[in-house]
Amino acid sequence: MNRSAVAFVLGLLLPLSASRAQGDVAAGRKLAVQHCARCHVVGDHNPYGGIGSTPSFQLLARRADYLERFQTFFERRPHPVYVRVPDTERLTDLPSFVAEFTVTPNNIEDLIAFVETLKPK
Ligand code: HEC
Repeated sequence: MNRSAVAFVLGLLLPLSASRAQGDVAAGRKLAVQHCARCHVVGDHNPYGGIGSTPSFQLLARRADYLERFQTFFERRPHPVYVRVPDTERLTDLPSFVAEFTVTPNNIEDLIAFVETLKPK
């Protein structure tokens, strides 16, 4: 392949690999601290915090299906009441009992990258 062909192929592949890139752990941690730690224990941020009836992120990360659970957390009870996702229909018209917040698909990738750091080694 000549040089411009290589550049062309790279140009095609790079955006693909960028969009498949792992989420940003630091950004995910920040988001979890800001929005999830009110209820969940998230790693070492609030080991004695959270709400007792709410599973910790460490516990959730141990589950075989944690990825699916985090990818779809916004449509799993109790989140639909207070989590908004842009361009996604509200799953309920019930008024929220706690402060609402919005997450984007990128935010969720970042969150998952952070949750992956909590998996048992
Ligand atoms: C207002 C409290 C509250 C906030 C804020 C909250 N959660 Fe939850 N979450 C819960 C409770 C309560 C459960 C347990 C639900 C159950 O077991 O029925 C839960 C369960 C989960 C589960 C497991 C769901 C399942 O079906 O197994 C995931 C994943 C999750 N939360 C992710 C998050 C993420 C990510 C955030 C922040 C972006 C967040 N939660 C913010 C209260 C909260």
